Amino acid sequence: MDPSFWHARWQANQIGFHEGRPNTYLERFADRLPAGARVLVPLCGKANDLAYLASRGHTVIGVELVEAAVAAFFAEHDLAPTRAPLGDHVAYQAGEITVLAGDWFATTAALIGAVDAIYDRAALIALPPALRGRYVAHLRALAPRAPALLITIAYPQEMMEGPPFSVDDAEVRALWAGRTITELADEPLVQPRLAAAGATGRERCYAIAAP
Ligand SMILES: C[S@@+](CC[C@H](N)C(=O)[O-])C[C@H]1O[C@@H](n2cnc3c(N)ncnc32)[C@H](O)[C@@H]1O
Repeated sequence: MDPSFWHARWQANQIGFHEGRPNTYLERFADRLPAGARVLVPLCGKANDLAYLASRGHTVIGVELVEAAVAAFFAEHDLAPTRAPLGDHVAYQAGEITVLAGDWFATTAALIGAVDAIYDRAALIALPPALRGRYVAHLRALAPRAPALLITIAYPQEMMEGPPFSVDDAEVRALWAGRTITELADEPLVQPRLAAAGATGRERCYAIAAP
């Protein structure tokens, strides 16, 4: 998607993807992430998951395009972050949580630092097909040895315009080729727009093992 799409969504508060509480798959499967891991959360929005991961003893590094969303995360969690320009990005940090405001595709290993694990909820599925290969390639380059927890949705793409996009099981396995992938959950998708169109889908959670 064009960056202006996401800026407009945040500005208009059209953030139906924001759960306002820790994701239930994350709560169920958080023990799949190595204890004490520094967890990379791409396209993190202002997800409560960042705080949940920190509460479990993780160090968290998030990346989010829209700086207002980053500022909102810290404000809503009563955290007073430091704010420092870092190349093309702006780094917000409070305690164990750092979020880089800026473009995911412009991040570098030097900016992100060491990564022990990856948490992807509504990041891969936020991207159109043409960007998903680049997104995962960049993720794998930044964190080559990290296991991942990945949450996707899959539905008949012709029934609804993304985002969120449908990413089926075959695509997950192709994008993460070479890794052992375990499906932890495969459940009916609750998506009002899809239901209104008379279609159904699946929500899946995967554990992607370290290489
Ligand atoms: C569907 S939302 C999911 C947010 C979060 N993961 C959650 O679970 O609430 C996708 C987020 O990715 C951000 N985003 C989109 N493109 C981006 C990019 N190129 N770099 C960084 N963030 C991006 C959007 O601003 C939006 O907040």
